[in-house]
Amino acid sequence: MFKKKLSYKRTIRSYVIRKRKITTDQTNILNKFWNYSGINFLTKKININNLFDFNNSLIVDIGFGYGNALVDIASKNFSKNFLGIEVYLPGIIYCLKQINSLNIKNLKLIYYDAFDVLYYMIKDNSILKFQIFCPDVWSKRRHNKRRILKKDFIDLIFAKLIFKGILHIITDSESYVNNILKIISKITSFKNISHKKHHLLFNCREKTKFELKSKLNGKRLFNLVFEKN
Ligand SMILES: C[S@@+](CC[C@H](N)C(=O)[O-])C[C@H]1O[C@@H](n2cnc3c(N)ncnc32)[C@H](O)[C@@H]1O
Repeated sequence: MFKKKLSYKRTIRSYVIRKRKITTDQTNILNKFWNYSGINFLTKKININNLFDFNNSLIVDIGFGYGNALVDIASKNFSKNFLGIEVYLPGIIYCLKQINSLNIKNLKLIYYDAFDVLYYMIKDNSILKFQIFCPDVWSKRRHNKRRILKKDFIDLIFAKLIFKGILHIITDSESYVNNILKIISKITSFKNISHKKHHLLFNCREKTKFELKSKLNGKRLFNLVFEKN
């Protein structure tokens, strides 16, 4: 059964939950497909790969929105397992519907704060790749503290990656890029390989909603790629 979110102890979050009623159709999708493609949040480490049909390397997408790019990537790369983490319920529901209609077996979703999921549920040295496409920029200076890619979260990501694991970030914000580079430059074993054409970037994929929005607004998208050494 789909479980509602638990209460958080952290005060500054990277998102704001806007109360929005979900329709009967959306509720039905959730009830029908959650048991198969959803993973309930737990405060204990689990072997996520045991929940998939095959024991493949795991790729985690944080804040996938409506998940069109994630669904596209998973459907084309069935030799990998994918985990999507999102706090936006309509996005979770939309993604569940896509997973079911395309009969995708290598993609599961968690409806919870990614920081808590990584901290509580994911074992260290277990993830092949994290992808974070267009994280909220929180551009006003007083809101910068809400950015998800802060030191504590990047440290957590680093700990969860396997040796040679990848963190791939896409953003259209130069100030966010500079922020991230400043934090990561202090982690000596996190190597900036953004200049390389890495095979795990899944370049042949649908663009996310926010990538398309940035392009439409004539903004440049920055790809940042880091490797754990
Ligand atoms: C700007 S949207 C980008 C969505 C999608 N990746 C895209 O490119 O279209 C950022 C997404 O991150 C999600 N998000 C923000 N903080 C999060 C967190 N701590 N845990 C999980 N998801 C989060 C938001 O709900 C939102 O859907």
